[in-house]
Amino acid sequence: MPVRIPYQPLSMRSGELEATRVSADQRTVRGVLARYAEFLPISDATPALSLAEGDTPLLPAPRLAQWVGVDDLHLKYEGANPTGSFKDRGMVVAVAKAIEAGSTTIICASTGNTSASAAAYAARAGIKAVVLLPAGKVARGKLAQAVVAGATVVTLDGNFDQALAVARDLARDYRVALVNSVNPHRIAGQTTAAFEVCDVLGDAPEVVALPVGNGGNVTAYSEGFRIYKAASRSTRMPLFIGAQAAGAAPLVHGAPVEHPETVATAIRIGNPASWTSAVNAVRSSGGEFSAVTDDAILQAYHAVAELEGVFCEPASAAGIAALRIAVRAGRVASQTQAVCVLTGNGLKDPDRAMPESFSAMALSPDAAALADRLALAPRS
Ligand code: F0G
Repeated sequence: MPVRIPYQPLSMRSGELEATRVSADQRTVRGVLARYAEFLPISDATPALSLAEGDTPLLPAPRLAQWVGVDDLHLKYEGANPTGSFKDRGMVVAVAKAIEAGSTTIICASTGNTSASAAAYAARAGIKAVVLLPAGKVARGKLAQAVVAGATVVTLDGNFDQALAVARDLARDYRVALVNSVNPHRIAGQTTAAFEVCDVLGDAPEVVALPVGNGGNVTAYSEGFRIYKAASRSTRMPLFIGAQAAGAAPLVHGAPVEHPETVATAIRIGNPASWTSAVNAVRSSGGEFSAVTDDAILQAYHAVAELEGVFCEPASAAGIAALRIAVRAGRVASQTQAVCVLTGNGLKDPDRAMPESFSAMALSPDAAALADRLALAPRS
């Protein structure tokens, strides 16, 4: 049963918002709008929207570092965001700015995570969300997130690229705000991940490896590191390794892919909307785009879970796989300080984690029998 509260957009609840501002201090106000206001395109007229996104862990990963072949590896665990992906950083800005501009409906095309995030922030703000998804190619956890938050979920008989084209047409011709990463407010919000990395490490790392689909996130990281360097909060720019799935690697081939295919459905994209800015970000850093096979992606996906206890979705593991390949080929030195961005939470796509052949050890509830089967040594 949908919950019905009379429609009242966030921007109208001025008394409540005022109270939020008045009580604002480091402990009570969380989220990227409060934390990085000075670097974001917001003003007093921007609603104080937040699901306490950002401030995600930067985990040292010594065992995975050995597997990858570098001395110093950290994982930026974006799966810890409120809807389980990095999209929340940009979505909070895009939705707040859409409300500020008078919108009451947002729209996006998505391989899943953007739709989950858009649905959640629209619900939080009391506005409507419409999400356009490629039929049959969205992980169930992501679909569930959009459904439970009350978004209007539309599946299209086509891939992400076609869905995005339709979303752009609708936003151009009708009163609905587009919240894909072609919206500059999305990119602005996502720059905050780079700020956080610098704030924790004391400077930018030497190398950042991350999955690339539409190209928005690598653009945002590049922009974020540039902004921090210009503000003297860091001293250098990292080298970027942009990982694409081998079956959906337009930026590696230099040409769109008409029928992209990969197990990493989040980055199943053949014609990235932020093509030029993604290429500029990676090229100007002295880095590279890398095509990683589905096998290599899944190997990295299991390695990060087994060696570090970190559960990410398959697309997120592509950056780890690409970094490992670059180190093995000698293009990245082993003495490097590297950060892999784990863009999404593994719980979104649990079916991928379980081999079809998996069956638990089924035993009767008898301690002695279990001890025997588990070969436990008795306490003497
Ligand atoms: N990793 C994950 C988990 C993603 O969901 C996406 C993009 C990316 C990486 C790539 O980021 O597009 O900025 O280069 N997901 C979009 C979506 C397309 O609809 O959720 P990008």
